[in-house]
Amino acid sequence: MTPVQVNDYDSIAEGYTAENETSLLNAYYERPAMLDLAGDVTGRRILDAGCGSGALFAELRDRGAIVTGIDASAGMLELARKRLGADADLRVGDLADPLPFPDNTFDDVIASLVLHYLEDWGPTLAELRRVLTPGGRLIVSVEHPFAIHLMQRAAGDEPNYFQTRERTEEWIMGGQTAQMRFWDRPLHAMTEAFTEAGFHMTMISEPPPVPAARDLFPELTGTRFLGFLFFVLQAGSDS
Ligand SMILES: C[S@@+](CC[C@H](N)C(=O)[O-])C[C@H]1O[C@@H](n2cnc3c(N)ncnc32)[C@H](O)[C@@H]1O
Repeated sequence: MTPVQVNDYDSIAEGYTAENETSLLNAYYERPAMLDLAGDVTGRRILDAGCGSGALFAELRDRGAIVTGIDASAGMLELARKRLGADADLRVGDLADPLPFPDNTFDDVIASLVLHYLEDWGPTLAELRRVLTPGGRLIVSVEHPFAIHLMQRAAGDEPNYFQTRERTEEWIMGGQTAQMRFWDRPLHAMTEAFTEAGFHMTMISEPPPVPAARDLFPELTGTRFLGFLFFVLQAGSDS
């Protein structure tokens, strides 16, 4: 029997990308929050790690950054290529593996909604730090660990919040079904992994969606919700 492939973004590339363009979570919450945290990126060399089909890449490039994208899914990168054009620097690569860039290549690394697919953050964060200039920034968004915990509790599960644990979900997008595997971890495991890799925490953020979301998504109540958790980190200068 053929083993079920997990995190097969190739199969849902079209459907995921269409959803990502207009969804509350991506278009009106996560992406604007990442851009806000990145601030003025004019002239900065940025690695978009887990760039997917390139929506954030495009916004960063429009703001004057020199962007390189890397992603494990050739299907997502094909859509990124269509969006970004032939001269966009896009690489296929797994963030669990060594990165194909020399030391000190980037001023910023942006890891948008990708680290929660990795069980062990240690080797990945070490590589992200290696390719950053000393003092360079790592800007991260991940699924909020409290949101996941509350969601699982509400569904009748009793997850051990303090463990790093596997979670699977079936996603149906664009008529395609994919098995997704996430690695949930507690907040302290995230901050310890950053510190162990030589990053200093500059900011931890739980931003609201953009104001326009209120008119477009009337189901939104309150000004904020537990969705994703955002970090801005700085690469230490010692190695
Ligand atoms: C939720 S999507 C986010 C895409 C993009 N960052 C965005 O916010 O629009 C996650 C992306 O991470 C990629 N990905 C998942 N695991 C990966 C890994 N181990 N190495 C590289 N990319 C990975 C997937 O292929 C997918 O494109």
